[in-house]
Order: sequence, then C-alpha cells, then structure tokens
Amino acid sequence: MENLAVLTMMAMCCCVNGKTIIDMSYELGPNATTWPNNPPFKLTPIARGFQTGGFWLEYNWFTTDEHRSTHIDAPSHFFYGSQRVHQIPLENLIGPGIVLRAHEEAKINSDYAINKDFIVNWEAKNGRIPEKAIVLLDFDWGKRYVNLDNNLIFNTETYENTSTYHFPGIAGDAMTYLVMERHIISIGTDTTSLDIAQTTDSPSHVICGRNNITIIENVANLDKLPIKGSTVFVAPMKLHGGSGVPVRVFAILDEEPQTCNPSNMANNPNRLSRILLFFIFIILNIN
Ligand SMILES: *[C@@H]1O[C@H](CO)[C@@H](O)[C@H](O)[C@H]1NC(C)=O
Ligand SMILES: *[C@@H]1O[C@H](CO)[C@@H](O)[C@H](O)[C@H]1NC(C)=O
Ligand SMILES: *[C@@H]1O[C@H](CO)[C@@H](O)[C@H](O)[C@H]1NC(C)=O
Repeated sequence: MENLAVLTMMAMCCCVNGKTIIDMSYELGPNATTWPNNPPFKLTPIARGFQTGGFWLEYNWFTTDEHRSTHIDAPSHFFYGSQRVHQIPLENLIGPGIVLRAHEEAKINSDYAINKDFIVNWEAKNGRIPEKAIVLLDFDWGKRYVNLDNNLIFNTETYENTSTYHFPGIAGDAMTYLVMERHIISIGTDTTSLDIAQTTDSPSHVICGRNNITIIENVANLDKLPIKGSTVFVAPMKLHGGSGVPVRVFAILDEEPQTCNPSNMANNPNRLSRILLFFIFIILNIN
C-alpha cells in the first residue's frame, strides 16, 4: 500500500532541483471557462505541413478574450489609472504562497465570503501571513472544472444569466486587511471571480485595483498546495494595454518530498528494494 502511494506520487509530481512543482493553470482553448457573451476562442492554423526544405512547419494565429480560463485581472480592470498587464512589475508576480482553505464553509453556503475574522483565526492557528505573499483562496471549487460545464462552475442552471450565479469569494474587510496590514502582492481564487457571485459592487476587485494588486482567477490544483511552504510563480504574457490575460501559474514546494528526487530514490536502497519487491509481487500475481 505504501509502495503504491510512492509510485502514485512519482507519477503525479514533477521535479525542479528535487522539489515538487505544481501546475495551477487550466488549458486555454475553445472549451475553457469564461463569462457569457464573450466572443469564442479560436486557434487557426496558418501553416501545417512539410516544407520544400524537408522539415515540418506549423504555426497558428489565435483570438481569445482576456478573462478566459486561468487568467490574471490587471489592477486596471476595476480601477482607472492602475497598472495594465504590461505594467505589472515582476516582483509582484513571485512570492510565498499562503492558502486560505474554506472547503466546509463553501459547501454549506455557496455565497460564503471569507471575512477578516476568518483570517485573524487563520493567523492564530498558522502564524502571521508574511509580507509580499501571494494569497490563494481554496473553496474546493476545482472539482467543478473536471468537465468544464459552466453551469457547474458558476453554480447555476442558467449560465446566460449572471444574476443567478452562486460562488464564494472574499469580503471587503478581509481584502483591506490583507492589502493594508499584511502587504500582500497578489491574490488568487479557485472560482471564476474574487468577489462572491452575488456581489453588486465588487469591493475586493476595487481594493485590489486601487492598490495595484494583481488578481488570479480559475486557479487549478489548489487542493494540492500546503497552506504555507511554497513559492508561487505567476507568468502572464506581457500583453500591451491588457486588462487581464490568460496566465501560467505554478508553485514550487519548499519541502522536498523523498519521492520527488529520482537520485534520492536510487540512493535509498531500502526504498528501492521495496519498489522492486512491489513489481515482483505484481508480476508473480499476473502469472
Ligand atoms: C471541446 O469540446 C468538444 C465537445 O465536447 C470536443 O469535441 C472538443 O474536442 C473539445 N476541444 C478541446 C480542444 O478540448
Ligand atoms: C498603480 O500603478 C499606476 C501605473 O503604474 C500608477 O500610476 C499608480 O500611482 C499606482 N497606484 C498606487 C496606489 O501605487
Ligand atoms: C436573471 O436572473 C434573475 C435572478 O434570478 C431574475 O430576476 C431575472 O429575471 C433573470 N433575467 C432574465 C433575463 O431571465
């Protein structure tokens, strides 16, 4: 059983300098989630074939809305004069990952908003949120993205009507606390928007915009991240004038799981022999 877990881990994780790296982006494509009324995403081949020189060549052009799939909201999205995508400094895109996990709360109430008390309690249990953190809200919403069914993602039966959406987010008092008292650099969520679906004035978007804080939406695999002990990398393309843009987000875990580093594996005869025994066990069983 333990060996099976080791093998599963090996298949799941990939390694950078022996550390686990977690992909936190969904694919960008025609079926990726987005708000209704956006024009369709399209990838159109320009060339795809063998050339006279004998080599293969393919390239495409594509059209996309900015706020599709895993993407950033530039601060200018909800605050006039704040940073557009190409103006976001790199130092605001890399930082320690802090996960605020609210699975139960979101399950009981899909309009749940994390408030300041939630964060104060979080800090009492887990320690102070460090300066320049990238805070990530985990509402266990990722499991709704498996088939990219927008009714499931937006938690509605009428995707065309945005007033019917119900998903959790973060309240203005909590957002102000994170920005003014904890000096975070960015905030992400595993839902399609930072404010709760039923908001009328999007306070958290506005607070982030005013303070040049970049927002990340539709963050994937948040449940695989520890509540602290990771470095998060947010890598949007440098779209000139953009109010947002699809993004590759990933995290590198501080702790080095034994299973991540293949050389550790080979250097650990005990572990190696257990894995060999496991395979022998399987082969014997097959025969
Ligand atoms: C998008 O969804 C359609 C319908 O389910 C499917 O046929 C198609 O392969 C999907 N495209 C991509 C790029 O996933
Ligand atoms: C946000 O960024 C814009 C564009 O760089 C800048 O003009 C503005 O002063 C910044 N706002 C704050 C609060 O730092
Ligand atoms: C959209 O949903 C809201 C809330 O349920 C409802 O009041 C409104 O009539 C709906 N609009 C349309 C065009 O169906």
